[in-house]
Amino acid sequence: MYVLITALALVVAAAPVISFAPAPARFVPSRARALNAAAAGDAAGSGPLRARLVGTGSAAPETRVTNDNIAEWIDTTDEWISSRTGIGSRHVLSADDPGLASLAARAAASALADAGVDAADVDLVIVATSSPDDLFGDAPTVAHAIGASKAVAFDLTAACSGFLFATVTASQFLHSGAYKTAVVVGGDALSRWVDWDDRNSCILFGDGAGAVVLQRTEDAADSGVLGFALHSDGGGHDKLQCAYNGARRDLATSTGASVTTGAYAPITMDGREVYKFATRRVPEVVAEALENAGLEAGDVDHLLLHQANIRIMEIVADRLGIPREKIITNLNEYGNTSAGSIPLALEEAVRTGTVKKGDVIATAGFGAGLSWGSAILRWG
Ligand code: COA
Repeated sequence: MYVLITALALVVAAAPVISFAPAPARFVPSRARALNAAAAGDAAGSGPLRARLVGTGSAAPETRVTNDNIAEWIDTTDEWISSRTGIGSRHVLSADDPGLASLAARAAASALADAGVDAADVDLVIVATSSPDDLFGDAPTVAHAIGASKAVAFDLTAACSGFLFATVTASQFLHSGAYKTAVVVGGDALSRWVDWDDRNSCILFGDGAGAVVLQRTEDAADSGVLGFALHSDGGGHDKLQCAYNGARRDLATSTGASVTTGAYAPITMDGREVYKFATRRVPEVVAEALENAGLEAGDVDHLLLHQANIRIMEIVADRLGIPREKIITNLNEYGNTSAGSIPLALEEAVRTGTVKKGDVIATAGFGAGLSWGSAILRWG
């Protein structure tokens, strides 16, 4: 751990000064305290939770748009996009496809099938998304579609950190004993919200959804959520946003009132600032979650970061001292699917046997808000 902290201290000292607020004070239980808490079944605040990951599923639209396709209408090249980001293509909902809720429901249903869990036994469905079909929320529609008739269902919005934040949220309900079985879906359709003529941002995003099934475990030693750390900083909100910009409408003159009529502007992004934010904050937050789990970088079998940019993933791995071979990525095929990216990559890694039962996976989400978080997961 000393080596990790020293390496991080050097990196932070060498990093350029940027304008984000300092990270909040960290809650860092000692390794012994975390393990004792787990053994006693009384986890420290952000230490092991009584939740296990028992199944995973995913869904992506069929329509695939390659870098060369994008170069047909904007001034870019496959070489520029792939060398700067690691992205080769992205899948997008076509105008004729059913929407985000349908994609999320497919991912949730396949996660339940993978887990061998009956939808009727699900207590909680959380859909992490920033691009629902219905601004009032897609989760009840998703729960209905999969037959989770007794579940309470709600959306959670935390942009590209959404799946991470939702997984920790669901785990708290399981840890407290309020619920026994939860489905967490991360999914986005940012193809709806990018400006397809803005080469700075449209090259990055794609659509997709992934899901996990979590169950309460009575034995704290079986925890699958070993530690976590979550943060946000609204001071960086304008670095990446999809802001409301409804048109003004004056109501009848006798009221003197004016309102706005719903519309959002396309995504705007300061790519360089987001890059600096991610490469600085993500190593910190993974190290913090590892501490809270009572683990070290050497205990990590896989590094599964939000799939935004391969260069960000490699820098984070290097700064943590985790070998690059441990990075899980499907960025080349799917691009950045926002809240969908971590579970979409997890499902593939489990299905192909890369991730095996008992493996420790250091995950981290980051993005708009600004928001960032990490959870140390143990699969199965
Ligand atoms: N094709 C070709 N040229 C492009 C381009 C594209 N798609 N997009 C930008 N450029 C140009 C710019 O106009 C600029 O040209 P100029 O020097 O003549 O002004 C040049 O390439 C360099 O642009 P810059 O923004 O400095 O590139 P970069 O190396 O920082 O890479 C990103 C841009 C977006 C790939 C990079 O900043 C990044 O990945 N940031 C993080 C974004 C992210 O992950 N967001 C989601 C977080 S959830």
